[in-house]
Parts: sequence; structure tokens; C-alpha cells
Amino acid sequence: MCGIFGYMGSSNAPDIIHQGLKRLEYRGYDSWGISTIENGKIKTTKDVGHLPEKSPIESKSVSTGVGHTRWATHGGVTITNAHPHYSTDNSFVIAQNGIVENYTELKKSLENLGYVFKTQVDTEVIVKLVEHERKSSKTLRDALVKAFKQLDGRNTVIVLDSKQDQILAIRNGSPLILGTKEKDVYLASDPLAFNQYSQNIVEINNGELIEIKDNKYKIYDIYSEKYINRKPREEKQLDIEINKGDYDHYMIKEIVEQKGTILKSTNYSQKELKPLVDRLKKSKSIYTIGAGTAGYSADQIAYYLRKIANLNAISIKSYETESYLNLIDKNDTVIAVSQSGETADTLEAIEILKKQGVYISSIINMPGSTLSRLSDSFFMSNAGSEICVASTKVFTSQISFGYLLSKTVIGKYKEAKKEIYLLSTNLEDFFNNKTFKQIEKITKVLKDKEHFFILGKGQNFHIAQEGALKIKEISYKHFEGFAAGELKHGVIALIEKGTPVISIISNDSNVRDLISATQEVKARGAITIGIGDKQDENCFDYFITVADSNELKSISNVIPFQLISYYLAKELGNNIDKPRNLAKSVTVK
Ligand code: M6R
Repeated sequence: MCGIFGYMGSSNAPDIIHQGLKRLEYRGYDSWGISTIENGKIKTTKDVGHLPEKSPIESKSVSTGVGHTRWATHGGVTITNAHPHYSTDNSFVIAQNGIVENYTELKKSLENLGYVFKTQVDTEVIVKLVEHERKSSKTLRDALVKAFKQLDGRNTVIVLDSKQDQILAIRNGSPLILGTKEKDVYLASDPLAFNQYSQNIVEINNGELIEIKDNKYKIYDIYSEKYINRKPREEKQLDIEINKGDYDHYMIKEIVEQKGTILKSTNYSQKELKPLVDRLKKSKSIYTIGAGTAGYSADQIAYYLRKIANLNAISIKSYETESYLNLIDKNDTVIAVSQSGETADTLEAIEILKKQGVYISSIINMPGSTLSRLSDSFFMSNAGSEICVASTKVFTSQISFGYLLSKTVIGKYKEAKKEIYLLSTNLEDFFNNKTFKQIEKITKVLKDKEHFFILGKGQNFHIAQEGALKIKEISYKHFEGFAAGELKHGVIALIEKGTPVISIISNDSNVRDLISATQEVKARGAITIGIGDKQDENCFDYFITVADSNELKSISNVIPFQLISYYLAKELGNNIDKPRNLAKSVTVK
């Protein structure tokens, strides 16, 4: 959460930073700020809410600056709290991505030393600490290093210094990538932010400080106190188109793209899969790990590994790994699932497991991410950039890969490839105006309701949970997805006349249980909606028939939920691609 950007070069800095922040806005859009050095002084423009479409700064002769897009952690969403934050003498500004976990203690001791705080943000503690350390340090760099070493948490900071006409940045936990092109140097929370200008990237590791001065960069290890020579490498995969095309929103574009992305994510040969497949067969247990939608992918992949590949697979939520740590060892394999590869909860779990000697394989969508560097092996989801905060195409890419992997374990690679291809073809037919109109019509019935329930079982249990998350995120309505078997154990108490209940009905061994559960809620006055391939006219008030598939029903079944989410949010006039309070990449705990 929060995006940081820095630029020194031959082009107009405010425009470059504005464009970079626009691409980083998925990381938070509570407020934004851009600081540049003009005639030896720092000039800052800030505001709350989304960045304007056009650069808000007119100057044409400015070559150095930094920017920040905020997802609020400490302190309300106000202009005062928007980053970057000035030093008392206005000679430098600092912006942060992360949380200073010992903020209260540090603030208290700085106040005791006479420092006066003007904002409620934890970043101001870093500013004051640097000022304090500057008194006994030779350079601002040394003061920054001393201050940084006192911070607890995962925090990456960027500093714009007008005295030395330089940019400094240090990384710990939250991502930082450098880009270069001739006389231009870029720094950002992810490489897509400067991808349109440079594809030559330098990955920055924890504990490394960047100095950008005279259009050149240096990398300094803050622990060994030595400079590091690291040459840029070309990141070809970054050449990703970022536009909405003919669509009104990224979300609908990304939903429709799934007909192609499920193929791309499974475009691996048996030879490429073999090392992981061999490892899985030998592993005592396999743990899949993720959070949010990636957590439901991890659940679904573990389901496939158990059900199809007969392996002992257990899914863990990244933020709940602790109680499993004493069970996992080097005879196990961990599969981490993450779109961004930067989710703090997942990274922290993986860092601990790696120290325990556990083999980590990851499924990641964002090239060059921290998770890819931490993992022993990784597979790209290859879904292309997913701009909408709510994950859609990456979810189906991840679970398609999990399906292919599971079938490969039992020697049915070719069969899986055929099925995925068939589903992709059927999705081509599914995404048509008739489907969109039907779902739009159903959302008109739903829009005035507040509580909704989704029932699933077996292959559709985690799909019910992911379906509910998807709709909650964008519509702000209370959707709850659970195993149909759970209904009679309590949830049924919430069903009254007019409560919408969506049942996921696949023509599989669970169909009767789902029909019975639906009848039970119908008898109590629920509005019943079926999603799947097994229509029952006596049971459902509305039925959405999904794209035909054999064993890949979970994938076809999740798509109507994504569409309900989209059309319901549209009906309610919500911000579809950037829903309130959320950020796409959750780099704080
Ligand atoms: O980048 P990751 O896949 O690790 O992100 C994990 C979650 O934060 C993410 O899936 C989140 O739940 C999305 N908002 C889902 O739509």
C-alpha cells in the first residue's frame, strides 16, 4: 500500500512523476503528493482523493522530484497528512511506504527532545529522527541510515534533498525498483510505474540505500557500509499494455480477458512442470499460502491437489501461518500464491519458512516481485497487468495453473490442457450481450437488498467464498459465502422473506445437497438464484447458466460472481476499479 516514485533526468519531472503515480494509484488513492526541486527549493503539490488526469504542475524546466500515493494507515485522509513531509528547515522531504511499528515510542522520545509534530502520520517520526541524527552525522545519507535502523516494521522511504540536489531511498520490506535509461533514473514501488520509459531495471534488496545524484545512481549496503555494483537487467515481460480499450472499466475488460488468460497461465510444458511435480510427489505435505483472493486460490489449489492428485495438501492463510510453523519442515513444499508478489502477510510467512529450510515455489503475476526473488522456483500467471483492485483474471489464472499441476502429478497433463482449451473456447461464447444483460437485470433486483448468502460445496465451496469477497469489495454489500452444509447449523436463522441466496449448482455428486439447501431457504421466503450447469425449474427464481466445462466447473462458476459484482457496483454508482478503503497491493500488515 502506498506507492512511491522518484525521478532525476532529462525530461520534465512533474509530468513523469504524475504519470508514474497514476500507474501506482492501485496501491492507494486516499491522497497524493508531488515534490520537485525548483531553483534550489522544494515545491510540493498535494491533495486528497484521486490524482487528476492531467499533471497538476505546469513547470517545464524541472528535472528532479519525488511523488507518493497514499493508503492511509496512521492519521486521517487530509492534505496535511498527505506525503511527502517537509523537514523543519524545508531542505528535504520524505515519503514512506510502510508502517513505523514503534511510532508511538519514537514520537514520545522525540517530543521529549523538543520536536513538535504537525501531522498524525508515522512518517513524520522518520523526518524528525533524520533531523535529529543529522546533528551528529557528516551527511544526510548517514543521518538517514541511522534513523532508518531505529525503525521497526516493513518500511521503504524516499527522500528529496534540495541542499545536495539528490534523491535518497532505503528499502526494508516494502518494494523498491530502480530503472535507468541514458541520463534518466527512476525509482518506484513497482516497475510498471516507469515501464513506458525504461525496461532496464535494478532490483533493490532490503537494507540497501540508493543515492541518485548528477543523473547517476549508486547502491549502498547500510549494514556492510559498502557500495554495491549491480548492473541493470532488461525485463522483457514488462512490455504490458495498460489501457481500457473499448471498455468502460478495467474490471469488465479483465473479466472478459479470462478466455485468453486461463490459456496463458497454463502455457507450461511438462518439462517445465517436472521439477515441481517430482517434488510434490516426494513431499510429506504441501502447504498452499495466500491472502484475500490469493488465499481462496490457495484453498482451491490445495483442493485440486487433494482431490485430483491425492496429495496431502493443506491451505493456510498467510496471516495465520504461525500456528503451523512447527509442523512444516524441509520434507514439505510450500506453494505461495500472490498476484503482486509483494503482500506483506505472505512475504513475512515465506521469509520465516525459508529460514526453516522449507522449499518455496510461488505462483506470481507481477514480474520482478520480491516473492519471486525469495522463492526457490516460481511460475508466472502471465495474466498481464491487472489494474482493477478487485482480482478477477488472476484468480482464474492461478487456479487453472493449480488444476494443470494437479493433473500433471497423475500423468494427465494432456487431458488437462484439452479441458482448459475447451473452457477457453466456451468462455468466448459465454461473454456475449445476452449474458451481460441477464446479469445486469438480476443486479437490479439485488441492488436494494443488504444481506446476501452464497452456498457452495466441494469444488464450489471456495468459489462461494471468493464470489462473496468479489461482490463485497465493489458493491459494499454484505455477501457471505459458505459451505452449503453449514446452512442448517446456524446461518439459516438469517434467512427471511426476500433474502437473496445464490446457490452454485454443478452437475456433480453434490447437486442433490445443493438443491435441498436451496429448497430449505426457498421455503423460508428467500429469493433463489442458481449459478452453474444444472438448472432446476422448481428451485430457482433466476438461473445463470455458465460456460460449459468438465472438471473445470469452479472456474466457469466464479465468473458470474465477478459479473454480478461489476453490474451491481455500476447500478449503485460505485467506483468500480478503485473501491473505497482498498489497495491492490497490501504491503503493510
Ligand atoms: O497481491 P496478492 O495476490 O498477494 O494480494 C492478496 C490480496 O490482498 C488480494 O487478493 C485482495 O484480496 C484483492 N482485493 C482481491 O480482489
